[in-house]
Amino acid sequence: MKLTVVGAGSTYTPELVDGFARLRDTLPVGELVLMDPDRHRLELVGGLARRILTRQGHPARITTTSDLDEAVDGADAVLLQLRVGGQAAREQDETWPLECGCVGQETTGAGGLAKALRTVPVVLDIADRVRRTNPHAWIIDFTNPVGIVTRALLQAGHKAVGLCNVAIGLQRKFAALLGVRACEIHLDHVGLNHLTWETAVRLGGPEGEDVLPKLLAGHAGTIAADLRLPHALLDTLGVVPSYYLRYYYAHDEVVRELGTKPSRAAEVAAMERRLLTMYADPALDEKPELLAQRGGAYYSEAAVDLAAALLGGGGTPYQVVNTYNRGTLPFLPDDAVIEVQAAVGAQGASPLPVQPVDPLYAGLMAGVTAYEELALEAALHGGRNRVARALLAHPLIAQYTYAEALTDRLIAHNREYLTWA
Ligand code: G6P
Ligand code: MN
Repeated sequence: MKLTVVGAGSTYTPELVDGFARLRDTLPVGELVLMDPDRHRLELVGGLARRILTRQGHPARITTTSDLDEAVDGADAVLLQLRVGGQAAREQDETWPLECGCVGQETTGAGGLAKALRTVPVVLDIADRVRRTNPHAWIIDFTNPVGIVTRALLQAGHKAVGLCNVAIGLQRKFAALLGVRACEIHLDHVGLNHLTWETAVRLGGPEGEDVLPKLLAGHAGTIAADLRLPHALLDTLGVVPSYYLRYYYAHDEVVRELGTKPSRAAEVAAMERRLLTMYADPALDEKPELLAQRGGAYYSEAAVDLAAALLGGGGTPYQVVNTYNRGTLPFLPDDAVIEVQAAVGAQGASPLPVQPVDPLYAGLMAGVTAYEELALEAALHGGRNRVARALLAHPLIAQYTYAEALTDRLIAHNREYLTWA
C-alpha cells in the first residue's frame, strides 16, 4: 500500500508517521511519499520520519519529493495537509478581523473565509492532478477549512473525504472521564466541521446506551472548564459543544482575550522553529513531547483509521467524517458538507441516520451552511461582491458595516493569493 502526504513539510508529519508505525496492523503501509515544495523542511521532517520507522522496526520505504505528479503516481490514498501562506498568512487571519471587533481565527469567521479563498484553488489544482495521474486514489482532506474544502472537492467530482480530529479528541476525553476504553465510546456527533455538538455518548456502538446524562451529571464542571464555557451553558444546551463553539457562545469575550495576547499563529510559529531544530538532531527517533501542544492530537489515529477503512479491510466501521449531507440533516441542502458519524468502506462514507436536531443548534448549522455555500462561490469565482455576500451571511458577522469593513481588509491582506484582486 502506497500513501502520499501533500504538505508533508508540516511539523505535524512525525505525529502521522508515528501513527503509521504504531497502527501497522490496521494499515499496512509499504511506501510513504512525503511531498512538499519546501525542500528544507521536507528533508528535516523526512529524516525524522525515517528514524521513527526504523526505531519501531517498520519496513515501509519513505521517499521525499517536491514533484506532485511523481508523489501521487501509484498512491492508494493522498492525504492533504497543506497550509497556503503558512503561519504568516494565518497570523493575518487571526489579527485583522479583531480591528472590526470580530473574532480572528484560522477557520471561523472572516479569517476562515480568507483561508478558504487562498486554499480552495490550490487544493482543486492538486486534486485534478491526482485524478489525472491516478483516478482511483482516495483523497483524505485535513486541510482547513475542512468543510468548505471538502465541499469544493466533492462538487468537482473527486473521491474525497474530509477529516478533523475534534471528534476523536472528545471520544478520548470522555472515555477517560468514564473510565472506559476509547473504542467503546460512540459519539452522536452532529454539525459542520468546527461547528459540532455531541448529542449522545453511547457505549459499544451506534445502538448502545446513551451515557451523556451520566457524563454530564458527574463531569459537567470539568468539561465546561476544558471548553472554557460556563457550566450553566452546558445545562441549557443539554449536550456538549466542541470548543470551536466558544467563538459563538462567548464571541465578545474571545475578541477581548485575543486582543491582549500574541496570536496562536505566532505561538505555533515559535513552536515550529523549536520542533524543526529538534527534527534536525540525528539522535531523535521519536515524536517529541512538544508536538502534543499542537491542536492536532490524535490526528494520526483518525487518519490511519479512515485510510484503512477506505482502502478496504481495516479500520473502525463507523467514523466521524466530512461528506455530503444527502438528506441526513433534513433542514440542510443535500450538497451541504456535514460532519457526522458515517459508515466508511471501500465505497466511501455514508452518514448514519441522525436523531432530530434541536432548533437551538439546527439554526446555527443552517446559517453557517449558507455561509459555506457563499464562501465556496467566492473561492471559485472571486470578486469583491461574492466575498461581501459570504461575510454578510456569516452568523458571527451579519451586520452590513462589519461585512464591508472585513471585506476590504480580507482583500487587502490576501491580494497576492487572489488572482482576481
Ligand atoms: C485542531 C483542529 C485543526 C486545527 C488545529 C489547530 O486539530 O481540528 O483543524 O488545524 O486544531 O492547532 P494548532 O496547534 O495549529 O493551533
Ligand atoms: Mn479540525
